[in-house]
Amino acid sequence: MAELRFDGRVAIVTGAGGGLGRSHALTLAARGAKVVVNDLGGSAHGDGQSASAADKVVEEIRALGGEAVANYDSVENGQAIVQSALDAFGTVDIVINNAGILRDVSFQKMTQADWDIVQRVHLNGSMSVSHAAWPIMREKGYGRIVMTTSAAGIYGNFGQANYCAAKLGILGLAHCLAEEGRGKNIFVNTIAPIAASRLTETIMPPALLENLKPEAVSPLVAWLCHEECEETKGLFEVGAGFIAKLRWERTAGHAFPLGRAFNMDDVARKWGAVTDFSESTHPTNTNEALAPILSAVSNPSLGGNEFIDLDTATKTE
Ligand code: NAI
Repeated sequence: MAELRFDGRVAIVTGAGGGLGRSHALTLAARGAKVVVNDLGGSAHGDGQSASAADKVVEEIRALGGEAVANYDSVENGQAIVQSALDAFGTVDIVINNAGILRDVSFQKMTQADWDIVQRVHLNGSMSVSHAAWPIMREKGYGRIVMTTSAAGIYGNFGQANYCAAKLGILGLAHCLAEEGRGKNIFVNTIAPIAASRLTETIMPPALLENLKPEAVSPLVAWLCHEECEETKGLFEVGAGFIAKLRWERTAGHAFPLGRAFNMDDVARKWGAVTDFSESTHPTNTNEALAPILSAVSNPSLGGNEFIDLDTATKTE
């Protein structure tokens, strides 16, 4: 098989001045992509800014014979970052939303400012850069977007309420963009990485960090950005060479008959069926998820209303 390449493709990698973003940028550039290396250059807590982080990675890419330009805007200003891509390379094909900060603190002690800055950088930032690139991708009928969530968001983690909420918000954004982009050949996937970086160096022992190289995350990201990859709406856990896909799982559940009142005692009695995963399903979109409910509601023999049109009931556009 010939090497997969990105010749002629333009990629924006946010937060690419260090850690995972730097590795993604180097990986794409090594395979021929022209890269906008975005980084605000602030601290891990989101304070300050500097051009040096992005500049250093641009130099690294150029030294290896690749093409890259630096951008120092915050991801909250997606328009400026996309403009850098347009000014330098004329278009944008790939957006890797990776920039991030931490303001870890227990919920009890969390301030509104701790909450707001994490939402702004992670959730608003991922939206802002994607939103600025979206019309360009739609127009050309091509786009690849990778979002960065976290195990903390998926599973919950002590002391990270702001981060968990923002990270799962990003997954919700990705799910919607995947649906809206599907018909325009814009594919949107999400990774939950684990890697040694300044965000993890204070919370993991050095021996563990040694084997958690950012370079073990970038091959998946690069594949998800490639034109031959038809995956969309996926969520992947990735780190130290491990790559796996996640999906939703729903129990078979219990349906109380329509038109007959039921109360919390009935719910308590049926709790076993409600929570039993032995005959689970894996809905992948709202139609699949709502189908069992709406088919009962629209079936007169089950006490439903025949006038409900399933198609209209589940379309939200
Ligand atoms: P890092 O701190 O090395 O890299 C993040 C980069 O984003 C930094 O260079 C920083 O300057 C930049 N940045 C921060 N705010 C910015 C803003 N407003 N605009 C532009 N750039 C900004 O950290 P790491 O670990 O490489 O993190 C990358 C992403 O991966 C983050 O979204 C993080 O939440 C996520 N992640 C990382 C994990 C890990 O194990 N390292 C685990 C789960 C998620």
